[in-house]
Amino acid sequence: MTGPTPRPGIMEIELYVPGKSKLAGRRKTIKLSSNEGALGPSPGAVKAYRRAARGIERYPDGQCTELRAAIGHRHGLDPRRILCGAGSDEILYNLARAYAGLGDEILFSHYAYTMYPIIAHSVGAAPVAAPEPEFTAEIDALLARVSAKTRILYLANPNNPTGTYVAADEMKRLRAGLREDVLLVVDSAYAEFVVRNDYSAGAELVDAGANTVMTRTFSKIHGLAALRVGWAYCPPAIHDALDRLRSPFGVSAPAQAAGAAAMEDGAHIAKARDHNAAWLPWLRDRLAELGLACVPSAANFLLVRFPDADGKRAADANRFLEKRGIIVRDTTVYHVPQYLRITIGREDEMRAVVRALAEFMG
Ligand SMILES: Cc1ncc(COP(=O)(O)O)c(C=O)c1O
Repeated sequence: MTGPTPRPGIMEIELYVPGKSKLAGRRKTIKLSSNEGALGPSPGAVKAYRRAARGIERYPDGQCTELRAAIGHRHGLDPRRILCGAGSDEILYNLARAYAGLGDEILFSHYAYTMYPIIAHSVGAAPVAAPEPEFTAEIDALLARVSAKTRILYLANPNNPTGTYVAADEMKRLRAGLREDVLLVVDSAYAEFVVRNDYSAGAELVDAGANTVMTRTFSKIHGLAALRVGWAYCPPAIHDALDRLRSPFGVSAPAQAAGAAAMEDGAHIAKARDHNAAWLPWLRDRLAELGLACVPSAANFLLVRFPDADGKRAADANRFLEKRGIIVRDTTVYHVPQYLRITIGREDEMRAVVRALAEFMG
């Protein structure tokens, strides 16, 4: 007897490998493997979440009206063009469901977020990776890989796992160089951490036309990864398409309430940004003193290169850290096995990781 056959592409999906969250036999760990915010959520968000627990027998507001209003207020954006989803991943998926399919191509840069090829296969489209020699997306390399079949270009800015970013004028050049019917998705999951004056999260590119979407998340600076909330800022026609595809009650009521409270707590967002602005260069400099170079990062993590020497490789360092209860990200699935990605955590966590790596490097 034969069972049903999945649609073309599905069996080509390589299972997503998340950052480890537990170590066997250890109750207490330092988790620096998934780029979650170092300071956790705003106390107001936790309070709102608890309050929402009183009404969980009712379906949530499927349109996320209050949450969209809070996002619009914080970011100076029209709530009618904002769409919320169960994590930005859900929205990234639905953009592909809406705009690509069998025989199409979905383009991204070589060291891009690993969900993009998974998303491409999930709709039967071919994933196409443009070369990226310097660990930063190259606009000309991306444009050179556009074909008649290209439907979507996903670009994380800053990118995970490299942490590098593309400046606003280069993003503008990318948009101008793409055909009008190619959707540009600017995945700005780490935008809040960036403290560079030539950077933009992408809202003005959305406003400038009908073919660019910016996606954002509550999982990183807002510290709400477990709740699964993300959002997109879209041109009206794309908003309309996504609105038809979203699950009717995709974002739970407690998640909506916590997200709205997080948006209102500007002081907490600023504190988290300042924390990162201080500890990212601190960690980079301490690692440099140990002889470990990092890819220049504008986000809340560092991609750290380990020596190509017996006992000192990234895999050795990873085992060494795990023995001390420190979990970082093995980046083999990102095509960089000689590196580890380390999230910026609290001060005590940063000091612990540096102490452990100093011991490892001898
Ligand atoms: C670049 C990038 N985009 C999107 C996401 C997904 O975030 P969310 O939790 O909103 O689904 C991540 C999470 O690691 C990410 O690194």
